[in-house]
Amino acid sequence: MALPMRVLCPGSFDPITFGHMDVIRRAVELFGDVLVGVGNNGQKKYMFDLEERVELARQALVALPSVQIEPIEGLLADYCDSRDIRVVVKGLRFGSDFDFELQMAHMNNSLSGLETVLLPAAVEHVTISSTVLREVLRYGGDVSQYVPPVVIETFNSKFSQP
Ligand code: PNS
Repeated sequence: MALPMRVLCPGSFDPITFGHMDVIRRAVELFGDVLVGVGNNGQKKYMFDLEERVELARQALVALPSVQIEPIEGLLADYCDSRDIRVVVKGLRFGSDFDFELQMAHMNNSLSGLETVLLPAAVEHVTISSTVLREVLRYGGDVSQYVPPVVIETFNSKFSQP
């Protein structure tokens, strides 16, 4: 039974993967009301711009009609404050994810009292990394077992030679 609470699943989603989608689906099961926030990490250079990442997430998550997808501009803590969201949910694959997520969780908590729930990735998704997938995509490799078809279509139309 879901805990009745609106939570935010934030991320870069560059691009959204089956791993992200599984965490979002489980967040819906746990909390019922999930908003997906597509944001920018100032340290990252993105393959897809914010608008494209939002659109990819919208199409990838069409089977979860209760889930809303929105861009996050500015600080996550401010975004959550403005929508009265007290909890963020993120996926965790391995130890190196944890170190960074813990820093963000502490910072978001001190900025606005936000709580962070970290869900361990399902075992079949632990090896999926958007960083690695972008590299494989760039070199024409097959990533169809890791991302929905819309990601591959969008990549092909964005980067195909005229
Ligand atoms: O999936 P990612 O790349 O780890 O997502 C990071 C994201 C976009 C959620 C994070 O960088 C973020 O919250 N950006 C908004 C700006 C912000 O609040 N930064 C400080 C977080 S402590």
